[in-house]
Amino acid sequence: MTAGDLRSKYIEFFIKHGHAQIQGKSLIPENDPTVLFTTAGMHPLVPYLLGEPHPAGNRLVDYQKCIRTGDIDSVGDASHLTFFEMLGNWSLGDYFKEGAIKMSFEFLTSPEWLNIPREKLGVTVFQGEKGENGAADIPRDDESAAVWKSLGIPENRIAYLPREDNWWGPAGTTGPCGPDSEMFYYTKGEPCGPDCKPGCPCGGWLEIWNDVFMQYNKDTEGKYIPLARKCVDTGMGIERTVTILNGKDSVYDTEIFAGIIKAIENLSPPLAGGAGGGVRYGANPDTDKSIRIIADHTRSSTFILGDPKAVSPSNVGAGYVLRRLMRRALRHGRKLGIEGQFLGKIAQVVIDEFGGTEAAPGAYPELRENAAYIIEEIDKEEKKFLQTLQHGEKEFEKILPNLLKNPQKIMSGRLAFKLYDTYGFPIELTEELAGENGLKVNREEFDEAFKKHQETSRADGGVFKGGLADHSEKTTAYHTATHLLQAALKRVLGEHVGQKGSNLTAERMRFDFSHGAPLTADEIKEVEDIVNGAIKADLPVTMEVMSLDEAKTQGATALFGEKYESQVKVYTIGGPGDGDDPKRGISGTLFFSREVCGGPHVTHTGDMGSFKIQKEQSSSAGVRRIRAVLL
Ligand code: ALA
Repeated sequence: MTAGDLRSKYIEFFIKHGHAQIQGKSLIPENDPTVLFTTAGMHPLVPYLLGEPHPAGNRLVDYQKCIRTGDIDSVGDASHLTFFEMLGNWSLGDYFKEGAIKMSFEFLTSPEWLNIPREKLGVTVFQGEKGENGAADIPRDDESAAVWKSLGIPENRIAYLPREDNWWGPAGTTGPCGPDSEMFYYTKGEPCGPDCKPGCPCGGWLEIWNDVFMQYNKDTEGKYIPLARKCVDTGMGIERTVTILNGKDSVYDTEIFAGIIKAIENLSPPLAGGAGGGVRYGANPDTDKSIRIIADHTRSSTFILGDPKAVSPSNVGAGYVLRRLMRRALRHGRKLGIEGQFLGKIAQVVIDEFGGTEAAPGAYPELRENAAYIIEEIDKEEKKFLQTLQHGEKEFEKILPNLLKNPQKIMSGRLAFKLYDTYGFPIELTEELAGENGLKVNREEFDEAFKKHQETSRADGGVFKGGLADHSEKTTAYHTATHLLQAALKRVLGEHVGQKGSNLTAERMRFDFSHGAPLTADEIKEVEDIVNGAIKADLPVTMEVMSLDEAKTQGATALFGEKYESQVKVYTIGGPGDGDDPKRGISGTLFFSREVCGGPHVTHTGDMGSFKIQKEQSSSAGVRRIRAVLL
């Protein structure tokens, strides 16, 4: 079974069980400063898990691209990846433990679906805990265990584990979370004994799916507040599941990576003395590790660059992670003897395989749409890094004779930091070069210098200074206010109103729109009231990526004459009924406002302040200009 087959089957199964398929979202979370990347399918759904109604209903299913870099150093083993795809189904106050577990079991074991023998499955459930910090005691999850047993999973294949294993979330520092029940597959033939269950030291169990029972919201003070509406969040790893379904030992041995690995092999130079040789995957654990790292990191980088939110390599935030992934891949390329630039060629394979063609779009058409940007950014970063390497290596050669005089064979962390600071030479490379010359770098000293440097540059850049944060928050609020304003103008003046331009600062907004006459004082007051009503109602602001046609079908406003990608972001403010206006006989609306827009926006309108129009004047023929503030 291929990844494509698995995606389709999963979606089909859950649609059959009353779920609506929704679009996976951006890899860069919307307005969530607590994390750099989307780390799970639930991430974009946080507002709904916390109680917002979802426009698609209470049962949802999707596939979501995810990045997790916490285990970056484990990449290269059989199962770790920095980029992976997650299949997920959600219940927003609909089914809970029994429903979720029964559906998971049916999908895994039914001959019509994955047909995994139940003897190969083991599960875990939460062992319970005493409440602390005012939190409630949470009993052992016998309810989930009973459902598993009723389905034929015997007690001796059920592990009762603590929070470290059987609690999920929040994805950032705050948000929805709860106990979970995880499903494992035994990868080494038969379980090693009667009591062999997930966690057994034999190491045969591989987690493939997780059903989370979202019951709490962890707040900013670290308290667990019970959710009024209990939800289910599940996540199945595509790469791991494809691995076990095909009886493979590693995610890298599946068709998902076959084309990428072939490309890496082909790029590697012939081995010394070997006729047309080149590095072959499977021939040597060391070169395999490098091949896997290049494959994984290039795939991650391609997806990050191909995201509609267009990140580029930099020294901060998501851009820094991207830079690190690319540079690490390049470094391992050099280890395989691949000189010069090569990442773009591998990225092209990722684009082709996951982006598809226009006639036959792949699972992530955004890669194809953003292909030129991806390749261009990779090219620029490679050039930069190769230059860095050259300078750094030259510098290292210069200081080497002195270093070799050190009787302890230690290179000071300060010196390593200087190479990093002056030439951008990565510490891992310094360590590698030092190692080749029988030296060890004082890593502790380096880390200390690095930390100090980070703190200073942050303070200099003002990242943590109130002013800057306020600035971006305020501008974002003004951006959302333009959407509220446009919706209000259309309601008061008519559907002919269209946006002609806008200009935002942290202090005010300007909004130009088509309308043939000055606004009366009453009209201005009505527009203000509608906008302030929407702010007071604390409407959720949500974003979805869809085709422009789909956006139009769904009633989104777009700027006429503007060029859009075929996949666009659509921001919706409010849900069903929020655009109703009894005074004007408007009822049955699906949202307050919906616009094709690049973002960013606030996640809820509640904290935007009070909206006041200061000036209304002519801008040009048939175009009016409003200047407004949020107080
Ligand atoms: N959010 C859960 C996970 O990532 C399903 O495991």
